Amino acid sequence: MTSADQEWHPERAAVVRPAGPAPAAEERGGRVAIAADHGGFALKVELARLLRDAGFAVRDFGAAEEASGDDYPDLIIPLARAVASGEPRRGIAICGSGVGACVAANKVAGVRAGLCADTYSAHQGVEDDDMNVLCIGARVTGRALAWELVQAFLAARFRSDERFRRRLGKITALERAE
Ligand code: RB5
Repeated sequence: MTSADQEWHPERAAVVRPAGPAPAAEERGGRVAIAADHGGFALKVELARLLRDAGFAVRDFGAAEEASGDDYPDLIIPLARAVASGEPRRGIAICGSGVGACVAANKVAGVRAGLCADTYSAHQGVEDDDMNVLCIGARVTGRALAWELVQAFLAARFRSDERFRRRLGKITALERAE
């Protein structure tokens, strides 16, 4: 095996497309939010670069630098609020495990965050559950898989079947009641 064989080629990553003729939800030129604490900082830098190279406008909510004393809610909640307001419509939230980012993001009404480590969940979570924040654990998921997760997430769109809207309606009702 040569050193070239061992290199990672993001352009070769498989893009998981949703079934059916519908266009991708976030095409090139679309806006995507990203945020990470120190546990996800390096992966955030890498994914933001790949997103920009792929033509996306990246709204970076920090951290601006790798600081071991930062707290994931301070980075993730502003991203979650932006996504809940629809600007941009999708976000990527990263911490060490992805758990804290997911817990924090889901505290914001209108956010449907999912922690994903497989491409099926990254697109099916959008198709069935209208997931709008993808959470990744940078200490769990390698950068190549993380990039495939991001592509699967952004390429997917909500299927809007009655049963999916009915289930989400029950969550929206809970948010209103809390
Ligand atoms: C930070 O060290 C770490 O606890 C955080 O990134 C995350 O894994 C929490 O869920």
